[in-house]
Amino acid sequence: MKVLACGATGKYGGLVVPELIQRGIEVRAVIHDATKIDAVRAQGVDDTVEVDLADRSSVEAALDGVDGVFLLTPAFHPDATQMGLIMVSAATAAAVGKVVYNGVYHPSLDLPNHVGTRPIEEALYASELDFTVLQPAMYVQALADTYRDALSTGAVVAPWSKHSKMSYVDYRDVAEVAAVACTDSRLSYGTFELAAGGMVDRVEIAELMSQAAGTALHAEDLPAGADAASGEPGLAAMFADYDRHGFHGGNSLVLQAILRRPPRTVGDYITELSGP
Ligand SMILES: NC(=O)c1ccc[n+]([C@@H]2O[C@H](COP(=O)([O-])OP(=O)(O)OC[C@H]3O[C@@H](n4cnc5c(N)ncnc54)[C@H](OP(=O)(O)O)[C@@H]3O)[C@@H](O)[C@H]2O)c1
Repeated sequence: MKVLACGATGKYGGLVVPELIQRGIEVRAVIHDATKIDAVRAQGVDDTVEVDLADRSSVEAALDGVDGVFLLTPAFHPDATQMGLIMVSAATAAAVGKVVYNGVYHPSLDLPNHVGTRPIEEALYASELDFTVLQPAMYVQALADTYRDALSTGAVVAPWSKHSKMSYVDYRDVAEVAAVACTDSRLSYGTFELAAGGMVDRVEIAELMSQAAGTALHAEDLPAGADAASGEPGLAAMFADYDRHGFHGGNSLVLQAILRRPPRTVGDYITELSGP
């Protein structure tokens, strides 16, 4: 089986590539920024293809000879929805057997980056494709930068209230599920919420980071008026929503059932951050 892996150069999509290879799946890696090709080759991928997901002809060329697609669109890109729709349409025309779509947790939330995934899901459900839709919670890997900054400032900071309860997932678990979906029909025609289990606020994260670092780190909020979204309206809307409501969820039943083991936890990840 050969899978076209979107986002293969990305910090998240790049984690899917080794999971596919480990299962004996041939990978054709989507390259967007050609300067990143060496990092993909270093993962053992010889078949690479330059693709602009917004350009249907380049997507069609990339699909020639593949049996499946791991579809991931860039976060907050203005054409992200169109990119997904092009891929679903082109994959259907190419009679690709399988599409695994990396969507978002709670696509029903009225936020641009959630709303934008709905047409892609709908197109998959209306297609003749064997689909698997993944709806992952917030990636725990984002905490790496938070931890690094906290070690130098003493403050555990994020652009939403320190009391907002958030649902996370370790993207390595998501990557494993994506690869399982390419090889195992038990995930066919399914839509799966993926969360590590439970919710944590930043006060609890600061406690976990303090234990890991062996020094006291404190949860803090950004000063009022700080523009952490750098003028990106979708990001600003998401931060405002997290600030008001948190990102509630965290039921790990589905992820545990798919992995056939307990998911990695937020605490596991923070402990790893303090390691060598
Ligand atoms: N962060 C979270 O907590 C979270 C949670 C749930 C879901 N998600 C979803 O996860 C997805 C990935 O997030 P991310 O963007 O931060 O991760 P990422 O893994 O960095 O993905 C971005 C990838 O898309 C590629 N790309 C950008 N423009 C492209 C184009 N025109 N054509 C082809 N490829 C292009 C990038 O390649 P280059 O680097 O070469 O440009 C990169 O490999 C997003 O859809 C996001 O909504 C995120």
